[in-house]
Amino acid sequence: MNRYLKYGLIIFSFLFVFIIGAIVYIQMVLPDVGNPPESIKLTNSSETLKRGKYLANHVMLCIDCHSKRDFSLYSGPPVPGTEGAGGEIFDHDLGFPGRFISPNITPFNLKSYSDGELFRLITTGVKKDGNPIFPIMPYANYGKMDKEDILAVIAYIRSLQAIDKIQPASEADFPFSLIMRTIPQKAEFSTKPPASDVIAYGKYLVNAAACNDCHTQFENGEFTGEYLAGGRVFTMPGGNLLTSSNLTPHPTGLGNWSKEQFIERFKQYKDRSKLKKVQAGEPQTIMPWSMYADITTEDLEAIYSYLQTLKPVENAVVRFKQAESL
Ligand code: HEC
Ligand code: HEC
Repeated sequence: MNRYLKYGLIIFSFLFVFIIGAIVYIQMVLPDVGNPPESIKLTNSSETLKRGKYLANHVMLCIDCHSKRDFSLYSGPPVPGTEGAGGEIFDHDLGFPGRFISPNITPFNLKSYSDGELFRLITTGVKKDGNPIFPIMPYANYGKMDKEDILAVIAYIRSLQAIDKIQPASEADFPFSLIMRTIPQKAEFSTKPPASDVIAYGKYLVNAAACNDCHTQFENGEFTGEYLAGGRVFTMPGGNLLTSSNLTPHPTGLGNWSKEQFIERFKQYKDRSKLKKVQAGEPQTIMPWSMYADITTEDLEAIYSYLQTLKPVENAVVRFKQAESL
């Protein structure tokens, strides 16, 4: 045999074995987030449940994603009666690599999960069966929070009214199905800063609310922009383009906003019955204003103060672009 051909074949065989090995490793060993689920103990005091309810509905937005959203109203508040029952679809039409459906997180569907398994899922994205979930659920952010806050959320979702509904399973496209296995990391918990440490506390809330997921430019599966400087584009039904705003303290962002304006921007959506009815083609947003509108004034002040400490980045954004004008 030709010498070169022989070497070529040897190299090819090594590569082949290496690639198969890598696939087997990713498939069989990952995700690896360290320990098996911890055994944890929940407290069900009214304080804890109140904290869990606040976080799950208004800050971490579990209930926003795990309900049907009513996009006939501005900012798509949850359809009453579906809270926690899941059913939001994130698919190719919205630019996602597969078809992901938020499952029911009321006790009807989570009976088989132990508290420790739920804790691991929320903070590392690894399911009971060891498989990863799609990172649209901001589990990496949740894994940087205070354990007590996660426990409060678990206690609260355990107390939801059980809704008898099973959502269809999610499906990831290949090769994303393999890539998805490499994303979960060990959680690195923190201690919630006291509210008096306004900036650190605001930073903690911005992480918990995952503002960065939407407010940092994202292209081809990666964050490409400056942190919180806006510019992530979402395709809306009907082809309109929606772009997230710049939250840094530059004049093209929140540079000229007063604290009062910032707080009022959120509070104006507090009364659900006053949310604008949106006709097809009119500007609509995925920013869950009506859920965030119940963030307390103190917490909104802290978020504002933290955002004002970010590096100012110039990025003028046009939030709404109608399909016809594109
Ligand atoms: C941005 C949307 C979003 C947010 C916010 C979100 N989730 Fe999810 N969650 C999802 C999606 C989508 C899935 C399914 C992913 C998949 O199947 O790959 C999921 C999966 C889950 C599962 C797995 C259930 C099962 O049947 O295996 C649980 C439990 C869960 N989420 C709880 C929560 C809790 C608790 C919070 C708040 C702390 C939360 N989620 C916040 C979108 C979200
Ligand atoms: C699900 C995606 C999403 C999340 C999460 C999100 N936003 Fe937004 N946000 C948007 C989009 C898109 C816009 C532009 C359209 C609009 O005004 O609603 C926007 C607009 C805004 C505006 C209005 C700016 C203006 O020019 O009027 C502010 C302020 C804002 N977001 C702050 C935040 C903060 C603070 C957080 C976290 C607590 C957050 N957002 C979380 C998507 C999101």
